[in-house]
Amino acid sequence: MKIDENKLYINGVSAEEIRKNHGTPVIVYDYDEIIKNISEYRDNFKKNYENFSITYASKAFLNRTLCNIFKKENLDIDIVSSGELAIALSANFPVEKIYFHGNNKTEEEINYAIKNNIGTFIIDNLQEAQKIDKIAKKYGKKIKAIMRLIPGIEAHTHEYIKTGHIDSKFGFNLYKNHAYYEIEKIQNNLKNIDIKGIGAHIGSQIFDIKPYEDLLEVLFEFSEKLKNINIDINIFDIGGGLGVIYTDEDTYISKKEFVEKVSKKTKTLAKKYNKKNPHLIIEPGRSIIATAGTTLYTVGNIKENSELTNYIAVDGGMADNIRPSLYQAKYTAYIANKMKNKKEKIYTIAGKYCESGDILIKNIKLPIAEIGDIIAIPVTGAYSYSMASNYNGALKPEVIIIKNKKSYIMNKRETVEDLLKNDINIKDL
Ligand code: LLP
Repeated sequence: MKIDENKLYINGVSAEEIRKNHGTPVIVYDYDEIIKNISEYRDNFKKNYENFSITYASKAFLNRTLCNIFKKENLDIDIVSSGELAIALSANFPVEKIYFHGNNKTEEEINYAIKNNIGTFIIDNLQEAQKIDKIAKKYGKKIKAIMRLIPGIEAHTHEYIKTGHIDSKFGFNLYKNHAYYEIEKIQNNLKNIDIKGIGAHIGSQIFDIKPYEDLLEVLFEFSEKLKNINIDINIFDIGGGLGVIYTDEDTYISKKEFVEKVSKKTKTLAKKYNKKNPHLIIEPGRSIIATAGTTLYTVGNIKENSELTNYIAVDGGMADNIRPSLYQAKYTAYIANKMKNKKEKIYTIAGKYCESGDILIKNIKLPIAEIGDIIAIPVTGAYSYSMASNYNGALKPEVIIIKNKKSYIMNKRETVEDLLKNDINIKDL
């Protein structure tokens, strides 16, 4: 993002130009920022710990264009449904580089994945392992598996997005050795599952490296235990979760620091346990894609009230970005056509949907706003479009990407025809 002559530019194209060509609301991705984020992880791993892979968490946002970019950048991807899998397969993403996550994969989904030779299953529980084994047998295949554990580690983040605490719904619970006994059953009875790794995901939007270091200790210790049942673990998956800066209130940990510290801890533990350096997997979603996305809206009306709230109403809101309403997530905003004007008024940016909670940003100081201004909300590249809905008959926004000052549509704006496509018009009930 750059400012030039009072205007906001995204990877070389002004917000005004973008609106002229694409309309609003529009989510604009900066190609260079995606590559920068990937490189920051990759380059630092290369310097610190060679035996690694980066598995992009598709849930943050996926489409076929992104699959193509990730393929070129040699990332793996994690998917959690046949929907995400279909996107990846349709972009010819290499199947051996796809990891299938999720805590309740249906038989249909397992079938679809095994038929398509998906590389690795992250197995969540014993019953799921039994289903996978049965289906793998049908196809005469042995499934490479990573067992997801509940490590009992608290990461300080929002209640809804922390996943590693002892009462989590995800994974085999280490509590009272449950995980050990269940994995023993899998090892002894399910011959079409080949346990290669263990891992956990401790939460999202995390700014502390200590929980990852604690997790590595748990993983190393548990892998020692698994030797008793002839399981030789050489893959450790420490999940995603590294945070990004949304507003000045967020502290920051660089990818460099994260990679350096987890690499060091892994090497130290490998030495301690006299184990050769394991393959380390990280699963970042947000920290690869969030800062690459900016949402542009148009101001439709302004309600001024010197004693109460000054509202700016925009042409989108909770249907394209549910995060403020769902998690009280905070963002910052700019008036993209008035970047250098003095900030003179406190506004609340309201969405257009029929809920009082549809507020994108509360109490932000902005230049005097007028109808037709462009509101830009940066750092909306993760968990916005992927969590978008058709609430109030909203049409999902257009999603574009800008490279070399040229914009490309990645996801078309939805139309009413899209809405009507699945609506069966029954007339004679
Ligand atoms: N791996 C697993 C198994 C996950 O469940 C997740 C996210 C990730 C990786 C990627 O985490 P990230 O690096 O993006 O933090 N909708 C919420 C975030 C939910 C995260 C769910 N799991 C939000 O908008 O904040």
